[in-house]
Amino acid sequence: MTTLTLDQTKAEAFAGRMLDILNSGAIAVMTSIGHRTGLFDTMAELPPSTSQQIADAVGLNERYVREWLGAMVTGGFVEHNPAKNTYYLPLEHAAFLTRASSPDNIAAFSQYIPLLGTVEDQIIDCFYKGGGVPYSAFKRFHEVMAEDSGQTVVAALNNHILPLIPRLIEALEEGINVLDVGCGSGRAITKMAKEFPNSRFTGYDFSEEAIAIAQTEVQHLGLANIRFQVKDAATLDEVEKYDFIATFDAIHDQAKPDVVLRGIAQALRPDGVYLMQDIRASSYVGGNLNHPIGPLLYTISCMHCMTVSLAAGGMGLGTMWGQEKALEMLEDAGFTSVEIKQLAHDFQNNYYIVRKN
Ligand SMILES: C[S@@+](CC[C@H](N)C(=O)[O-])C[C@H]1O[C@@H](n2cnc3c(N)ncnc32)[C@H](O)[C@@H]1O
Repeated sequence: MTTLTLDQTKAEAFAGRMLDILNSGAIAVMTSIGHRTGLFDTMAELPPSTSQQIADAVGLNERYVREWLGAMVTGGFVEHNPAKNTYYLPLEHAAFLTRASSPDNIAAFSQYIPLLGTVEDQIIDCFYKGGGVPYSAFKRFHEVMAEDSGQTVVAALNNHILPLIPRLIEALEEGINVLDVGCGSGRAITKMAKEFPNSRFTGYDFSEEAIAIAQTEVQHLGLANIRFQVKDAATLDEVEKYDFIATFDAIHDQAKPDVVLRGIAQALRPDGVYLMQDIRASSYVGGNLNHPIGPLLYTISCMHCMTVSLAAGGMGLGTMWGQEKALEMLEDAGFTSVEIKQLAHDFQNNYYIVRKN
């Protein structure tokens, strides 16, 4: 029989880390509130101010703002002058917390933490019974996702993402057929439609809510070269129709990603190109030990990407399906050439440039 002895130093270090985690988790929720209420945006414009001045400037209740400021001061976001009872958001912090700082607004991503919390009860049920929590249970998902990809995809489209594919911009200028599968609120493809009037754009998503947002925006812009359709990506039945197909963060949470990839291969012209932006990770947890946001992505997977797929009776690949699995599935779908590219602004994703020939 072996006797287990407790390494006291290791135990105390872990207890300290647990306290850090509690503080960081709490600050993440308060960061989301600061983003959603506009507190960060307004504070970035204000000199050192009292809680009442800040609350008045944003149009919020002072008591709540003061308690929020307590979290922000003790969390090291906001500077406090106890003698004058003022609060100040330094420029160096505002640079990652305001809408004006986009695409560097990290506060927008903090919204995922409370968003996931809204389905905790249902997820715990799934731990016992299996199954999943459907997309429809995530009330603010499309809004938060649009802000997320607004920074990682839309802002980088012209200068970084499209140039990854040689001669694509020239082809878009001349006029080609483009499809965005799982387009969400359609911001990326709408931007392309605006930028390249000679090309024709189609966006599919199975969310009526997301497609309605996309259609409203297109009507507002008066664009005639783009159409959106509520469509399950597993029912793609077009043949060699598109010169360029893109999926932005839209394969790993599919119920039937294998069927979707085969549909994309079929819908692509023989000389066409498929761009799959998807999470950069290993398919094996042991390969993700140094992943900069491994815990965050496995959590988002468990509480969103994996579960929405399982809810539809799907494969439940999960956010961290990884490069090895992605390459295997692309080959199985009939693609013969895959290049993996990475972009400095987006450490979270790989850009798979995929062809049939
Ligand atoms: C992570 S979001 C990405 C959305 C968008 N591409 C973006 O970057 O903002 C995944 C999208 O895939 C859509 N989706 C998931 N399963 C789908 C399916 N079977 N058919 C069509 N769309 C689907 C979801 O509604 C969601 O909009």
